[in-house]
Amino acid sequence: MRAKLDFDLATPEAPPQASVDAAVKLLKSGFLFRYAEMGSEGNEAALLEQEFAALLGRKYCVAVNSGGSAMFLALKAAGVQPGDKVLLNAFTLAPVPGAIEHLHAETVLVEINARLVIDPSDLRAKAEASGAKYLLMSHMRGHVADMEAVQEICDELGIKMIEDCAHTMGATWNGVQTGKFGLAGAFSSQSYKQFNTGEGGLIVTDDADLAARAILMSGSYMLYPQHSAAPSEAVFARWKGSMANHSMRMSALVAAILRPQLPLLPARNARWREVHDRIAKRLRTHQLIRLPQRPNEEDYTPTSLQFFMEGLSQPQIEAVIADSTAHGVPIKFFGGDTPEGFTSRAPHWEYVKPQPLPRSEAILSQLCDIRLPLGLSDSQADTLANVLLESLNEALP
Ligand SMILES: Cc1ncc(COP(=O)(O)O)c(C=O)c1O
Repeated sequence: MRAKLDFDLATPEAPPQASVDAAVKLLKSGFLFRYAEMGSEGNEAALLEQEFAALLGRKYCVAVNSGGSAMFLALKAAGVQPGDKVLLNAFTLAPVPGAIEHLHAETVLVEINARLVIDPSDLRAKAEASGAKYLLMSHMRGHVADMEAVQEICDELGIKMIEDCAHTMGATWNGVQTGKFGLAGAFSSQSYKQFNTGEGGLIVTDDADLAARAILMSGSYMLYPQHSAAPSEAVFARWKGSMANHSMRMSALVAAILRPQLPLLPARNARWREVHDRIAKRLRTHQLIRLPQRPNEEDYTPTSLQFFMEGLSQPQIEAVIADSTAHGVPIKFFGGDTPEGFTSRAPHWEYVKPQPLPRSEAILSQLCDIRLPLGLSDSQADTLANVLLESLNEALP
């Protein structure tokens, strides 16, 4: 009798009752727009910004409508101009090169290594060859690079780093949280991230000018004094006439749903880690499965699991995927010819100038990915692993 998982892996984590209560209260009040000319007292978005800045230990926070907007605004507020080159690690998702494209800037892709993170030697080589002065460092699927090496290269070559922390809320490298290495960190609260508000984004930074520019561009209608994790009026005075309003604010409703989730982060991350490591341990028993290494410096926060089926051809991998999907475990595959769902890689981003990435392509052509819903029980996690192992054995001659 084959194992079958009876749990939809696309199940998001529902916000807690406190989020529901806060949302209903706000809906009844009608104050859904964050700038209701009501001041900052009781303003959900302003309170969220204050609380999120404190969570990250950064001075300023700007709440916006998506992670993609957070990256776009952080890069623009950091000074990226049309035509500028922006370095980006090759393992990431479409909204990340999409944010660079939105700026009419040029994406310069950097190779990854077998750990699925940016290769510091290629970062240096690409930075020197292109002269790029910006790096969008995407901590894709929660894999954190050697951030000291990355930071050293950026400091030496005068590169401004913006971190994409959509998958690393709470993750650390050598004890330092992601989002604190770069000039700014961009987060997402889209449903499949550590916090679920449907859509949402947050920027954190210690740079007063970047924060003021991002707030003005997010669309604050000169009501920026209502922000409480923001720089002084003198800083806004430098920029308020010259920043376009891009209308990318977070609504008060999203902030109200998000705030009660902040204290849940440590418990959520601990459970995600438990589920991930439980499945990983079982998968490692198969000789054809390899998982990316996790060095001791990395305290990871996995909301998904990545593995390689080593030595298998693309048709063989696709046969395993078809079999496991039929048994309730839809594996996502980064090596496919076309982008599907939440998987894509450089050749699929036709708006990015084609660039040779032999090492990343070889790695991603074997990369599989499974979403790990927080609601998965231990026994469901075991079933999930058993389905994968059985599908692998079944599909092989
Ligand atoms: C790695 C990564 N960065 C950024 C984003 C953008 O987040 P959003 O969907 O909130 O725009 C995503 C979205 O899934 C993502 O996977």
